[in-house]
Amino acid sequence: MWSIFRNSLLLLSPLIPSYLSPSTPQQFKPERQHGPYTDGGSWSEAYGRAKDITKKMTLEEKVNLTTAVIGPCQANSGGVPRLGISGLCFNDGPSGPRYTDFVTQWPSEFTAAASFDRDLIEERARRIGREFRGKGINVELGPVTGGPLGRSPYAGRNWEAFSPDPYLSSTMSFLTVKGMQESGLITCAKHYILYEQEPVCDGPLDDEGGRTGCKDVSSDVYDKTMKELYLPSFAETVRAGTGAIMCSYNKINGTAACESNDALNRILKIELGFSGFVLSDFGATHSTVSSALGGMDMELPGEHYYGKRLERAVKKGSVPESRLDDMVHRILTPWYASNQDTDYPQINYQKYDLSDSKTVNGHRFKNEHINVKADNAIYARKVAAESTVLLKNSGILPLKDIRRIGVFGTDADYPSTLSGCGPDLFCMVNSKRRYWNGTVTIGGGSGAAYADYIAAPIEAINMKARQHGIRVDHVLHDDSAHFGSMGWVAYQSEVCIVFVSLFLVEGWDREHLRLDKNGEDLIKHVESNCAGEVVVVIHAGGQVIVEDWIDLPKIGAVLFAGYPGQETGNALVDIMWGDVNPSAKLPFTMGKSHKDWPTDNIVRHMGKGSYPVSKFAEGLAIDYKWFDEHNTTPRYEFGFGLSYTSFEYSGFEIEEEWGKVKDTIQKTNERFEGRNDLYDTIYIAKVNVTNTGKVPGAEIAQLYMTFPKSEVEQPPKHLKGYGKKYLEVGQTTTIKFPLRKKDLSVWDVKKQLWTIPQGIFIFRVGNSSRSIPLKFELEVKSLH
Ligand SMILES: *[C@@H]1O[C@H](CO)[C@@H](O)[C@H](O)[C@H]1NC(C)=O
Ligand SMILES: *[C@@H]1O[C@H](CO)[C@@H](O)[C@H](O)[C@H]1NC(C)=O
Ligand SMILES: *[C@@H]1O[C@H](CO)[C@@H](O)[C@H](O)[C@H]1NC(C)=O
Ligand SMILES: *[C@@H]1O[C@H](CO)[C@@H](O)[C@H](O)[C@H]1NC(C)=O
Ligand SMILES: *[C@@H]1O[C@H](CO)[C@@H](O)[C@H](O)[C@H]1NC(C)=O
Repeated sequence: MWSIFRNSLLLLSPLIPSYLSPSTPQQFKPERQHGPYTDGGSWSEAYGRAKDITKKMTLEEKVNLTTAVIGPCQANSGGVPRLGISGLCFNDGPSGPRYTDFVTQWPSEFTAAASFDRDLIEERARRIGREFRGKGINVELGPVTGGPLGRSPYAGRNWEAFSPDPYLSSTMSFLTVKGMQESGLITCAKHYILYEQEPVCDGPLDDEGGRTGCKDVSSDVYDKTMKELYLPSFAETVRAGTGAIMCSYNKINGTAACESNDALNRILKIELGFSGFVLSDFGATHSTVSSALGGMDMELPGEHYYGKRLERAVKKGSVPESRLDDMVHRILTPWYASNQDTDYPQINYQKYDLSDSKTVNGHRFKNEHINVKADNAIYARKVAAESTVLLKNSGILPLKDIRRIGVFGTDADYPSTLSGCGPDLFCMVNSKRRYWNGTVTIGGGSGAAYADYIAAPIEAINMKARQHGIRVDHVLHDDSAHFGSMGWVAYQSEVCIVFVSLFLVEGWDREHLRLDKNGEDLIKHVESNCAGEVVVVIHAGGQVIVEDWIDLPKIGAVLFAGYPGQETGNALVDIMWGDVNPSAKLPFTMGKSHKDWPTDNIVRHMGKGSYPVSKFAEGLAIDYKWFDEHNTTPRYEFGFGLSYTSFEYSGFEIEEEWGKVKDTIQKTNERFEGRNDLYDTIYIAKVNVTNTGKVPGAEIAQLYMTFPKSEVEQPPKHLKGYGKKYLEVGQTTTIKFPLRKKDLSVWDVKKQLWTIPQGIFIFRVGNSSRSIPLKFELEVKSLH
């Protein structure tokens, strides 16, 4: 959510209603034009109740359900008190409950993704879900499941999502929705869809440093790219039963995402069979009739285009009342299906804590500042440690037999205030950038989660060092005025730990791939003065170029810790002293130069038309697939990460093994040229992994697949499986990768269905996308 320039976007309205859009490859039959109407899917009982109660409602009451306003929560939709239906309370976001206290600030999604750990991802989600429930929040505005996916390293919001790899992102999206909804919470997968950059702005900065003259970008994407790359994560959230999906700020083929008949009706509601409701991102609604017919079911927040305007449109007949009924059915079905009608706590927080009253906008609430953290700090610390990627190690880590440590950089320190840039951490990131001071644990904007405390790296290092009788010197100001004292401290330190960071905020894409505040200079300065070796800790929300300093002689170790949340320092100490053996792998590629990525994969100019257009010309080849396709050697490839032990792989094989899909909550209607369900498994790949080193540790084995040669549009390889196992010294285990029909399928644009190509598939297994020595060729001869 955000207001500074989103407000100006409200003024833009579409010229052509999207349901008349000429780009629709599959035209709807006329009776379909105002649908598709849900039948609840597997929530048929809940749907039946929703349908029955809708019949008792007046027009005004139905409209009330479709329109949310601000307060007491970040947004509250209307209810029907007469029929015992309370409105819903909506709140961000993906890394923990925002706008409230006594909650946990979790490692962000892209950080947790580095764990490649399914159980960990699901348990993280379960615990976040319980915190939301504890505050009485009905709908979490999260997780971020592929909008952005991470097409460009410059996108300022990639840290809110899992990974640019669609397999990693979709498996984690599924588990996150499943885990979060276990507590009865309704999730809202977002931002649907093709939201891969922020708007282009060409106005002057306003008094607050905010941007003006902004226009949303149109993402113009070929059908195949949409189906194979950007849609799969959303398909998984539908299968996992997400109750809501948020339409995004961008346009799609020139039509606002929140009124895109193609994206919402044709693809999400018909093809994926989504039975829940589509709600708008804050300020992303631009019309009444086009949005209602295009497939948007609820406006958030404020009554701009729904509310009274929707009521008038229904009375005039420009929106059929059957479509309004469908909106109500879609909103109430997941509410009944998750038993929120009978078994859910009352709202127990207030966004801005401004009013003493017990009712705002007709919503009764308490504001007791209850503690919903349980023992989540311990688990958050585990997630952060399991997600810290060791990129380089001369052997200096884990730390042992040392007596003097020097710590450098503001990123080791406490943030100057817990909410340094206001409660939303909305530090303006313009040319006169107001930097974040202190350690970076999360990004800014709607993905920010609130922390009750930050276990700063300096705190954790001091405590640990004291137990071991180690002296700690520190210089935590990192401007060049302090370079003198830094040099002096470094000169006396056996190990110099340098902290650098990159703070990202919603609304700003990156201008470069470097660290904040010339972190490169800080590293080089400490390196040149350090008596011993240097350990570099990077807290960043995306790729950074490390070429300036990575090969300097005293750079002993590098840890990429992402945005680890409140337990940052504790998790780091667990890794640095070897209490946790690092096992995380990069969920994205770190290149050597900005030239390694397509030069134009973020649009920065208005262009010639009335809005900026982004053609996703690289198609399926984003992140490592682009590097593979162009034979570019990255600095650290997708899937790379070191350990304190070593592993050997052996006995790779693939067998045919059929298995019915068991985990689906809602079936999709995706068409498939084959027998049975697209999500059934057909093969199982197996590999043995042995811990051949001197300490126990976990390994993440990765399976990559190359399509038969006939598939000329496919990049060289795709991640199609991963598995993590903890191994004692000398222990061998078998890691299994079930392969579903969809994992082997391509989208046939002509036939408009998924199909498994015939020919030879090549599978490779190993410890990163560039280290996959074991190979298996699998010939697929007939349709499955
Ligand atoms: C709309 O919803 C609010 C909040 O539940 C409620 O106070 C109000 O009475 C509702 N309006 C109607 C017409 O039911
Ligand atoms: C956008 O247009 C392209 C090119 O015509 C088409 O392949 C694609 O399916 C369209 N996308 C949507 C969501 O309709
Ligand atoms: C960070 O510190 C600098 C220098 O003291 C100051 O100018 C800036 O406003 C601070 N930024 C924040 C976000 O507190
Ligand atoms: C990954 O496997 C390769 C063999 O393919 C081995 O040489 C390398 O040391 C391993 N790397 C890690 C990080 O375990
Ligand atoms: C893999 O390891 C298991 C023991 O964990 C062993 O039984 C099996 O034979 C091994 N498979 C291969 C192909 O080496």
